[in-house]
Amino acid sequence: MKQTDRPIGIFDSGIGGLSVLRHIREQLPDENLRYFADSGFAPYGEKPEEVVIRRSMEIAHCLFTYNCKALVVACNTATAAAVHLLREKYPDIPIVGIEPGLKPAAAITKSKTVGVLATERTLQSSKFRKLHQQLSEQTGVNFVMQACPGLADLVEKNELHTTRTTELVRRYTLPLLEQNADTIVLGCTHYPFLQKTIENTLLESAAQPVQIIDTGVAVTRQLIRLLDVHHIRQMNATAQSGVHALTTGNAVLLADQFEQLLHIRPDVADMTREMITIASPSPHRI
Ligand code: DGL
Repeated sequence: MKQTDRPIGIFDSGIGGLSVLRHIREQLPDENLRYFADSGFAPYGEKPEEVVIRRSMEIAHCLFTYNCKALVVACNTATAAAVHLLREKYPDIPIVGIEPGLKPAAAITKSKTVGVLATERTLQSSKFRKLHQQLSEQTGVNFVMQACPGLADLVEKNELHTTRTTELVRRYTLPLLEQNADTIVLGCTHYPFLQKTIENTLLESAAQPVQIIDTGVAVTRQLIRLLDVHHIRQMNATAQSGVHALTTGNAVLLADQFEQLLHIRPDVADMTREMITIASPSPHRI
């Protein structure tokens, strides 16, 4: 197989990474993309760090058995916990992670207050705490952190516009507005799928216009840069171009979610058996 034909592996705790994959597909339509949704073990954000590390290492290992030429950790929680370990283990492979967009937010806030929505695990991670401290010192911006337990799980359950979701979005965003945030960072890849619900809450309640920051586009830009540095970008459509998926959840459900969110229906391999040994499935397993 030519280097350029090899797949790009992408993973998330579940379907959140599809908010990154949609940008990658748009910018790199000829690539062979292999998406791993660990939906049987989502959410990561409420699990101990060791579990997130173990899952991330095992999923990367699984993706590399498909001969992936690059890896995208399309999950802020897994990036914070494991991207340095993945880079250590696979030093020759380009690995792109995602982190909450504090820097772009600091560049545009006028009120000098930025709200950050993310998982508990991301906010507690030393990687994020370092980023936070560095940017607070450099910019003088006040970053108001808001952990959002339950929110990624509602996205996993396709509850994008239900009353439960609207109530949770209000509970997490209103305190940010009360503290004068004019910019909100979506620090979890599940949240861009709630952008409409978040925008509606802001329209109802914000006294000033509020900007929303999603780093999916920046991740894609970085991926393209690394593919070019390594001369492995696929520029032509081939028989392998397109999306192939794997899941530790329900394969038909994942195909449905792809269809609903991205309007494509890829083949989905059920990885339940292969990946079951690593940690007990979450009680939310679907
Ligand atoms: N989508 C993930 C993130 O970006 C994690 C959500 C979860 O599993 O808790 O952080």
